[in-house]
Formats: sequence, C-alpha cells, structure tokens
Amino acid sequence: MNERDVRLPDGEAITPPLGQGTWMMGEDPSRRAEEIATLRRGLDLGLTLIDTAEMYGDGASEEMVGEAIRGRREEVFLVSKAYPQNASEARLPDACRRSLRRLGTDRLDLYLLHWRGNVPLGETVVAMERLKRDGLIRNWGVSNLDTDDMEELSAADGFGCQTNQVLYNLTRRGVEWNLLPWMSSRGIPAMAYSPIEQGRLLSHPEFALLAEGLSLSPARLALAWLLERPGVIPIPKAGSVAHVEDNAGALDVRLDEETRTFLDKLFPPPTHRTPLEMI
Ligand SMILES: NC(=O)c1ccc[n+]([C@@H]2O[C@H](COP(=O)([O-])OP(=O)(O)OC[C@H]3O[C@@H](n4cnc5c(N)ncnc54)[C@H](OP(=O)(O)O)[C@@H]3O)[C@@H](O)[C@H]2O)c1
Repeated sequence: MNERDVRLPDGEAITPPLGQGTWMMGEDPSRRAEEIATLRRGLDLGLTLIDTAEMYGDGASEEMVGEAIRGRREEVFLVSKAYPQNASEARLPDACRRSLRRLGTDRLDLYLLHWRGNVPLGETVVAMERLKRDGLIRNWGVSNLDTDDMEELSAADGFGCQTNQVLYNLTRRGVEWNLLPWMSSRGIPAMAYSPIEQGRLLSHPEFALLAEGLSLSPARLALAWLLERPGVIPIPKAGSVAHVEDNAGALDVRLDEETRTFLDKLFPPPTHRTPLEMI
C-alpha cells in the first residue's frame, strides 16, 4: 500500500489510484488495434483499473476491453456500468450477464448504476447485492449521484456502495462543497470522470503555460492535481500509447504550494452549493 492508494469501504486497495476510461473507444474499426495496444500499455504501466459501460458504443467499448484484457484478466480491476432502466431486480441480472459476455469474463470487480433513473434506489441495492451473492460482481457502486441521492441510498440500506463516479476536474470543482466531504466522512472514494475535461482543459492558455513552466504536459498536471486529493481515483481516457504513458507519469508528480495556490486562482474552489454537473 502506497501513501496515495485509495481504499474502498470493503478494505480493498485501488493501487495505483489512477485508472483508464474507455468512453468513445471500440467504435471505429480503424482505431481498434491502437486502442487495444493503449489499454495493454496502460496495464503494463500499472493502470489496472479499467472503466467501461454497457452504454459506450452500445457494447462496443466492452467488447474492445474484453479483447484488450484477454489472457490478463487477473491483473485487471474491471468496472462497468448499467443503464438506469436496467437497474431493477428484473433486468439487472441480464444486463450484467450481457456485459460479462462482451467482456469475456465471469465477474466484474465493480458494477455501477450509471446515473439515477426511475427505478427506486432501494430496488437497485437489492439487485446489486443479489449479483454479489451470486458471484457475478465482486462489488457495486453508483455514478452521478448528488449528496441528497447518496443520503437516500444510505437510507435504503445502500451501505455496500463502494464508490460514486462523478465529473471532477479543475474546471468542475462544485463537488468539493458538500458531495466529496459527505463521501469522505463515510470512507467512500470518488472516481473522477472526464479528469481532463475531455481534453478541453489542455488548451486553457494560462493552465498550459503553467504546465510548460513546470516541464509537465497539461494532461499530467491536471491528473497530478486530482491525485493529490485524498480518496479520488481519476480515470482518464487515452486513445494512444503516447497519451497513456503521459498520463501514467502523473503518478510521479508532486506539486508545490505555489503551484497549488496558482491553480486555485485559475480555477477557484466552490463558494456555495451547486447541483452536481454531468457530462
Ligand atoms: N459515469 C459517467 O457518467 C461518465 C461520464 C463521462 C466519462 N466517464 C468515464 O470517464 C472516462 C474519462 O472521461 P472522458 O473520456 O469523458 O474524458 P477525459 O479523460 O477527461 O479526456 C479524454 C480526452 O483527452 C485526451 N487525452 C487523454 N490523455 C491525453 C494526454 N496525455 N495528452 C493529450 N490529450 C489527452 C483524449 O484524446 P485521445 O483519445 O487522442 O488520447 C480524449 O480526447 C471515460 O472514458 C469514461 O470511462 C464516465
């Protein structure tokens, strides 16, 4: 266990606390070989948490991930997500089995409710716990749930929830006001999705200049900042070997106080409560 590793409530360590996202991957046959090589290079570099979803490319991302991890399943901490309309007792088992089939595995390490829909949270908890008992998933969590939803989940016996995957990066700091403190006080880590704002952060002029002054790529600086926050697991998506190598390098970066202060000036922390943002 490293000082930066993040523990899930059930005690399992996510090490290192930096994963690989896969949204928009697996959809373009001409990019497939490079995407698979990228995910495998990420595994070589220790980025063993891979995040996907049944929604991504209508299953194409899961299929591509399945191919990338073939023969390496034991190295991987595999996360997938279910559509809200599938998060019922009647539909979740089949949705999960379909994901497992596409991924070429017999179990998920973490299965998330992608966002909240019409199925009562308590029913999703029951369905998730059953999948866990049946060995289809090792654990479960949620995504895009705001503080009041998390309160409701707790009240619905959702104490088995291992994470909440939310939009979090320098330009989206609203979660720092109450959601992250709420989760932290209960030992629930956050998976930070779109950690480089889908690439948009990289062209922010002053941010890019700061990164250059530190001899870091903007992506590496954005990830290093997130990695300093306790209980946060960024999951950047990289579509090339060069990008995943750049991202993995963020694990070795330590920011100084001056840089942190400057980043707070460029991207101020929240001063009041705002609704959770989603992409
Ligand atoms: N739960 C949810 O609702 C939800 C929502 C959104 C995302 N997610 C998850 O979070 C993951 C990450 O979020 P995201 O894909 O939206 O955005 P992101 O990771 O913030 O950004 C991805 C973009 O950044 C580029 N990039 C990555 N590394 C780079 C580097 N080192 N240098 C330059 N550019 C780089 C990528 O380009 P290349 O492709 O060219 O490398 C891509 O265009 C997703 O893939 C998905 O798994 C979850």
